Amino acid sequence: MTLPPDSRYISHAIMDAVLDPIFVLRHDEAISDCNQAACILLARPKLDILDQAARRLFSGWPDGVAAALDFPDAETEIERPVNGRRRVYRVSVVSGRRGDDDQNWKILMFNDITGERELSEELSVLNASLELKVGERTESLRQEIELRKAAELDLLDINREMATTQKELLLTLSGVVESRSRETANHVTRVAELCRLLGKSLGLSGEAIETLVAAAPMHDVGKIAVPDAILSKPGPLTAEERSTMQLHTETGYRILHSSERPLLRAAAVIAREHHERWDGQGYPNGLAGEAISLNGRIVAICDVFDALINARVYKPAWPSDRVVEQLRQDRGTAFDPQLIDHFLENITVALIINERYQ
Ligand SMILES: [Fe+2]
Ligand SMILES: [Fe+2]
Repeated sequence: MTLPPDSRYISHAIMDAVLDPIFVLRHDEAISDCNQAACILLARPKLDILDQAARRLFSGWPDGVAAALDFPDAETEIERPVNGRRRVYRVSVVSGRRGDDDQNWKILMFNDITGERELSEELSVLNASLELKVGERTESLRQEIELRKAAELDLLDINREMATTQKELLLTLSGVVESRSRETANHVTRVAELCRLLGKSLGLSGEAIETLVAAAPMHDVGKIAVPDAILSKPGPLTAEERSTMQLHTETGYRILHSSERPLLRAAAVIAREHHERWDGQGYPNGLAGEAISLNGRIVAICDVFDALINARVYKPAWPSDRVVEQLRQDRGTAFDPQLIDHFLENITVALIINERYQ
């Protein structure tokens, strides 16, 4: 017959299985029991520990142990070197009262939290270095963004100045050509403003309109190569003189096309195409319909309108109704029909522009 193991044996077995040191204290704080881990902690055999006063046993330990024993329930953390290495323990005290003899007892437990503590310390060191790195990177990014912003602003200023210079240069050059040619004063300015009117009516983008308006005054720049005798001849031109005059389209294109600037490139196309006709009967290349660029088709209308409505050395100014009649007649032959419709819709404003820039 086997006897059931008594409760004292079971509680010892459980205590020894626990890896954390446990001391059981009587009411007078002498040790009444402890587990194997407790013996290892104090490096003493169990017989040397039993019946010893707890406070004496831990007299060489940090004050936290004795302080915890002053309370019925307490928890604290202490550090202690073991074999030259720092160990960290969570010390807990719990107390109770025995039912059989009404005596107080306490349990003193040590929980080795060195690994946990080291891990959290490593983590906080890592966090601090990460925060430092993030801070440094953020600062350098901020500086980089500021530098870029400043550079972009500089570039914007330079671009703006270049664009202004380019437009002024174009207008000055157009003026020089105008003064040599048989055009009336302010012809190029009026053509530019009429182009703006037609561009807006067609719903072109602001940028496209600005390019058109800045480039349009250059349409006759090629006339710089046409001899004065032909340019300022009051009467009609001979066939040969007319061919020389017509060369101004290709000459203008060659002068302007040598630049990389988009504005001058646009001006080059206008210079070449402003005498092309919708029906393909124009010059220099006999392009027809939409093979002629939109800018070329717009300038063609504005250029002819201005030539008709104003006096030239070879003709008087036409009255507005005759000009309108002529433009209607040229709808779909000389000019893009849709563009002529837009232009005629805005004829009142076109006439105001003509008056304003005399
Ligand atoms: Fe021309
Ligand atoms: Fe012109």
